[in-house]
Amino acid sequence: MVDYPAISEQLDDIESAREDGHRKIDWAREHMPILTALQAEFDAEKPFEGQRIGMAMHVEAKTAVLVETLAEAGADVAVTGCNPLSTHGDVSAALDEHPKITSYAKRGVDDEEYYEAIEAVIAHEPTVTVDDGMDLVAAIHEDYPELIDSIIGGCEETTTGVHRLRAMDDDGALEYPVFAVNDTPMKRLFDNVHGTGESSLANIAMTTNLSWAGKDVVVAGYGYCGKGVAKKAAGQNANVIVTEVEPRRALEAHMEGYDVMPMDEAAAVGDVFLTTTGNRDVITADHFERMNDGVLLANAGHFDIEINLDELAEMAVDEREAREGVREYELQDGRRLNVLAEGRLVNLASPIALGHPVEVMDQSFGVQAVCVRELVENGASDSSSEEGDQYEAGVHEVPDDLDREIAEIKLDAEGVAYDDLSDEQEEYMGSWQHGT
Ligand code: NAI
Repeated sequence: MVDYPAISEQLDDIESAREDGHRKIDWAREHMPILTALQAEFDAEKPFEGQRIGMAMHVEAKTAVLVETLAEAGADVAVTGCNPLSTHGDVSAALDEHPKITSYAKRGVDDEEYYEAIEAVIAHEPTVTVDDGMDLVAAIHEDYPELIDSIIGGCEETTTGVHRLRAMDDDGALEYPVFAVNDTPMKRLFDNVHGTGESSLANIAMTTNLSWAGKDVVVAGYGYCGKGVAKKAAGQNANVIVTEVEPRRALEAHMEGYDVMPMDEAAAVGDVFLTTTGNRDVITADHFERMNDGVLLANAGHFDIEINLDELAEMAVDEREAREGVREYELQDGRRLNVLAEGRLVNLASPIALGHPVEVMDQSFGVQAVCVRELVENGASDSSSEEGDQYEAGVHEVPDDLDREIAEIKLDAEGVAYDDLSDEQEEYMGSWQHGT
């Protein structure tokens, strides 16, 4: 195992970094009633006592509240980033001060350091993993399979991670249970849609200081994230163009009133391009050839492979930093294409990025916290629960009652009342005998 130092041993001005980090975390916690309620519940029982939780997440203030919630519930937590640019060093430093937390997350690491930090987390021999993108699960299976027997299970935050896990599961290679947290209504319908929509648009606007109004905005992929981005861009008076490869999603976008066309055509029309596909090579040399001078290119998908930057760099005769977080590529004919946040998820990796709104992440991380609780209570083979060890190796849907629990806490915190089914209604909904 690699000997990689925690963040406190890497930062120069650790005291002031911690102070800034704590301030950011405190602000986030103030607006996270779900995690606050769960922490109150965990405080009494310390349900994670004796567990070691390994995490690879975007280490910023909201994530820090989740990390602290798990640690306060009794776990020893080791955490690192899941993207080289999304870590907030001050938040990482503040986390590392906690006696039950070790943080290895550092902003701006190269590939080698990134994976060394992942290995450093694995060196804590986690009993539970919490991933955003599946890097921890992959590294454990590839390089440390001897640890798998002592792992109760894992939780996966994002679409790309769940895709990778399902592919692994289909190959028969996934050797412990993992909850697809991404796929719950309380995560996907809010985080992917509203979170990605709001935070991507806000970050592009703040990074460039340019308006959305009147712009032709090309949204690649009309999935959960794409829907949010398209809706919010339209709400800012942009003209939205959608590209898709899935016919029903293309039709959905068309019926919403957006222009739908292939990227080959959209390339010549767009002012701003935002990829949200989770796929690779969505924007390539053929498209760069057709683009107008001054376009903005950004990605909100998990990995930095949606816009082919190698091809763009090859085509460019010159490159410069046009603004902080904006790299301008000048082509032979003088056209300049601007790439934001190095093609990494723009809402988390641009210099001023704060990620999703706090309220949205409270929901996603609420689901994460109850999934860890579920694994600890009912996933371990030596679990004291009668239902212990009920999760086989593989990808698991999150039990619906856990997702509902988070919705109920949130509605309660928002002061929103809603109806209950009457006994008659419940009986009617559950019967097949009642017809016309
Ligand atoms: P999704 O599966 O609902 O949507 C992706 C869509 O892209 C699908 O409709 C698919 O048909 C389409 N697509 C695939 N290849 C394409 C291509 N070449 N051209 C056009 N469309 C194409 O996935 P979701 O939940 O919207 O997530 C998308 C990506 O965003 C994933 O990588 C996910 O991990 C990431 N994500 C990022 C967040 C952020 O904070 N930036 C938050 C949540 C998810």
